[in-house]
Amino acid sequence: MKIIIINGPNLNLLGKREPGIYGRESFEAHFAKLQEEFPHLTLHYFQSNHEGELIDKLHEVGFSYEGIVINAGAYTHTSIAITDAISSIRTPVVEVHISNVYDREAFRHHSYLSPVCKGVIVGFGLRGYDLAVQSLIWHYSDR
Ligand code: DQA
Repeated sequence: MKIIIINGPNLNLLGKREPGIYGRESFEAHFAKLQEEFPHLTLHYFQSNHEGELIDKLHEVGFSYEGIVINAGAYTHTSIAITDAISSIRTPVVEVHISNVYDREAFRHHSYLSPVCKGVIVGFGLRGYDLAVQSLIWHYSDR
């Protein structure tokens, strides 16, 4: 089962960026733990600060992978183009936010992506990615 985690803008700075909100762990370090946690999965990771590159990646994997986990960062709150890309592909997409966006500024309370995603995981730190991967495994299990 092939699953990709796609991170959007500024998430390359995890571990350094606003550690009080996003924690002190880099995504690369967390990703290594995820691979240990789910050894039977083929997990890939992609990060870009550019909207078009995120869309290109969704198109590339969206008809062959079994699952996509996306944290589109601030594009969550602005991007109709990423929303359309998610609507255009076949692979189920789970939206993740590390912080509890509902406990933050009002502009973070609206997601363009949520209505076209299978589900949303918010506010559990980097462990939210683990929950998203687990939810995709459950999606294919028969109970
Ligand atoms: C974020 C929340 C967004 O509002 C913000 O722009 C991010 C990260 C999160 O993971 O909590 O870049 O998606």
